[in-house]
Amino acid sequence: MHELDNAVVMVCGGAGFIGSHFVRLLAEKYPRSKVVIFDALTYAGNLSTIQDLLSERVTFVQGKIQDPATVNGAIEANHVTHIVNFAAESHNDRSILDPGSFIHTDVFGVFVLCEATNKYKIAKYVQVSTDEVYGSIDQGRFNEDSPIMPNTPYSASKAGGDLQARAHHITFGTPVCVTRGGNNYGPYQYPEKLISFFAVRLLQGKKVPLYGDGTQVREWIHVADHCRGILTVLLSGVPGTVYNIGDENERQNKQIVRILLEETGQNDELVKRIEDPRKGAHDKRYSMTSDRTRALGWKPQEDFETQVRNTVKWYRDNEWWWQPIIALPVYQDFVKAFYGRYLGEDL
Ligand code: NAD
Ligand code: TYD
Repeated sequence: MHELDNAVVMVCGGAGFIGSHFVRLLAEKYPRSKVVIFDALTYAGNLSTIQDLLSERVTFVQGKIQDPATVNGAIEANHVTHIVNFAAESHNDRSILDPGSFIHTDVFGVFVLCEATNKYKIAKYVQVSTDEVYGSIDQGRFNEDSPIMPNTPYSASKAGGDLQARAHHITFGTPVCVTRGGNNYGPYQYPEKLISFFAVRLLQGKKVPLYGDGTQVREWIHVADHCRGILTVLLSGVPGTVYNIGDENERQNKQIVRILLEETGQNDELVKRIEDPRKGAHDKRYSMTSDRTRALGWKPQEDFETQVRNTVKWYRDNEWWWQPIIALPVYQDFVKAFYGRYLGEDL
């Protein structure tokens, strides 16, 4: 008998990219546990992503994490024992256009989940955060004790959520752990981030906007490795502790674009170097150590280049998933508003 066999895990943001992979992992590893997917279905959440997962044991509740009545109602009705929160506004470029919505979800929403954790004596709450809260580092690597120095409205909001979790643990003993993941890639990623956006555009033969000189560095981790790390923290993480989840796999953006061009069979002409739309807020490099999570028994397993190619193949084979998404006004309006002045006729 495993401790999660009788658990009811509320996965907030479970209809999004990483959250849906986490629900798949839970359903596969612990078929006797119950999962409640709690998701607002913003532009980034899609029922098509989780439709095949829904069952008597995996149910769906639509709601916003910043709305205590809906959160508490879902916990009471389903006798929730654990919470893992993926729900967030998650895209840096959108946070340049509309920073306020990020504060409502990424800060206030975390506060509401902390309060609910206390009220309903939830056994463990894992708050999923990002390495971006540390800011940019030219040399060396951040660890969990590094100061948080976020540079974008997105990363500042995530840092606000992390600090709510910390303060609730210190003040009220809330059993909350925070995870900070590197940049994720894999199937079902909304087509707005570097790899998903470029894959979908290149597969259509459209130009892709590379910001600045393309030498920015991110520490990339496959979504499956990230989810296994989050599960490890859910099972073994010490409350009040932060856990970095990275792969020590650093790549420049332009190196990734090269793989994407090869795998889609396109050439350099489709890469349009544009003036950096993030300006001062474009972090040069993300890098961190993940020794603390490794000490819990986790280690990344996926090979970057193989999995980037597999991700492109997935987008090639699963147009049913992304074609309806990119046809929606909410997608097209963002692409026009953010890239219109840079891509012009190539939009
Ligand atoms: P995503 O944008 O694909 O999905 C977010 C999900 O949350 C969507 O299903 C959306 O409908 C839901 N949501 C948004 N606001 C909500 C609200 N107020 N209430 C309830 N649901 C809401 O995001 P993702 O890429 O899967 O990221 C998941 C989490 O992981 C985020 O917290 C993000 O900060 C963090 N993270 C992401 C990455 C990455 O590279 N994508 C890396 C590290 C950490
Ligand atoms: P992104 O995938 O948005 O993740 P994050 O901002 O969280 O790191 O961006 C990854 C890198 O790719 C970042 O340096 C910005 C760059 N980028 C582009 O050059 N063009 C694009 O269209 C996008 C979305 C990102």
